[in-house]
Amino acid sequence: MLITNFLIFAPVIMGPGSVNVLEAQAKALGIKKAILVYDKGIEAVGIAEKIRKPLLAAGVTLVEYNGVVPDPTDVTVDEAAKLARDNDVDAVIGVGGGSTMDTCKGVNLLLTNPGKIADYFIIPPVIPGSKPGKKMILIPTTAGTGSECTIAAVFTDTVNKRKCATRSPANQATIAIIDPDLSSGMPPRLTASTGMDALAHAVESITIIPPRWNIISELFSIKAIQDLVKYLPIAVNDGKNIEAREKCAVASMLAGSAFANTLVHLGHAFGHSIGAKLHMPHGECCGVTLAHAMDYVADAVPDKVKLVGETMGLTFEPGATAAVIGRKTAERILAFQKEIKLPTLKDFGASREDVVAASELVPGDSVFRHSPKPIEMDKIKEILGKIYDGVF
Ligand SMILES: NC(=O)c1ccc[n+]([C@@H]2O[C@H](COP(=O)([O-])OP(=O)(O)OC[C@H]3O[C@@H](n4cnc5c(N)ncnc54)[C@H](O)[C@@H]3O)[C@@H](O)[C@H]2O)c1
Ligand SMILES: [Zn+2]
Repeated sequence: MLITNFLIFAPVIMGPGSVNVLEAQAKALGIKKAILVYDKGIEAVGIAEKIRKPLLAAGVTLVEYNGVVPDPTDVTVDEAAKLARDNDVDAVIGVGGGSTMDTCKGVNLLLTNPGKIADYFIIPPVIPGSKPGKKMILIPTTAGTGSECTIAAVFTDTVNKRKCATRSPANQATIAIIDPDLSSGMPPRLTASTGMDALAHAVESITIIPPRWNIISELFSIKAIQDLVKYLPIAVNDGKNIEAREKCAVASMLAGSAFANTLVHLGHAFGHSIGAKLHMPHGECCGVTLAHAMDYVADAVPDKVKLVGETMGLTFEPGATAAVIGRKTAERILAFQKEIKLPTLKDFGASREDVVAASELVPGDSVFRHSPKPIEMDKIKEILGKIYDGVF
């Protein structure tokens, strides 16, 4: 008998214009003094102001931190947490992409727990204990990470030069507000790469092996894949199409909730490693590795890879072999990447040497051990080279 479980990590308010509930929500939660967290990009496009206004109208005293950096570092998280602690805030409110939301999670953890963020980095299999945080409202402006609904946060460990995660009840949002209007200003490349991250979460969640696999994550992921395949190309080409933005924002949340329960595996282990070596955005490096990861794992989980392919619109001959299922699905993913104009590693300006050298980091990555099929170093190097060359 297989026993699995599924948790929804945050209540969600969603739909165009849903940030309008912020004033009422802040009052209902009794928030008096909050740290508002964002980055300079969010400030520049005027989104921070859209959040500041209703909070001030609700009578909330705001302390603001605008120093979030992509792939947030332990240094910036400790800095934001000091500001929050010094001002004795009773809530954390974040508006931005995964980097901002993860920074909020780090701040929230440090508001009710001692020390620095690095004290809480997960060193498998040990998860450091921590208490729940204060009230936290997360408002995504990209449609990719699903961080608003996950219990993990990801940081750059500047001492050991690697990405590290925390997992804590303090990482759970009190509410997530998903307003697609906020993502309508994302440029095409950011739309494509963050959307591809959501697709990778859904695909890797479906193809993970028991006991992590569960039926609710699978259903969430199927819906996320269906909507991303249909609406992400529209959002890339016409950013102001609110229906497409909404479908992508919700798909990101569904895929985030799915993988928060199952975890992701080989594609992300490859992607994190390339990203750490080349300082590439998360969505770009985890997007370009997905096809080859599916091609490799297909003989371990052929029915699940087939389900991914079918959900992306493929049909398979009866009795199709795992190798055929893997290759056709991988080719479908590559065709989708071209359709949304996701940059390749060559477009990014990476060298083949650097990409293959990222192989050293793969076995140490936090999700590597969840690959449905074991993989040796020679094969990792071979696959990273093939991802760079764009061949199988
Ligand atoms: N906690 C989780 O569950 C989880 C899951 C996946 C990824 N992540 C992490 O999330 C981070 C990546 O987050 P991301 O991909 O959302 O990007 P990001 O938060 O790093 O933002 C990238 C850039 O996009 C800009 N931006 C964001 N929204 C915009 C908008 N609406 N209009 C214009 N510009 C906008 C930002 O200003 C920033 O310059 C990585 O650190 C990754 O490891 C976390
Ligand atoms: Zn991801």
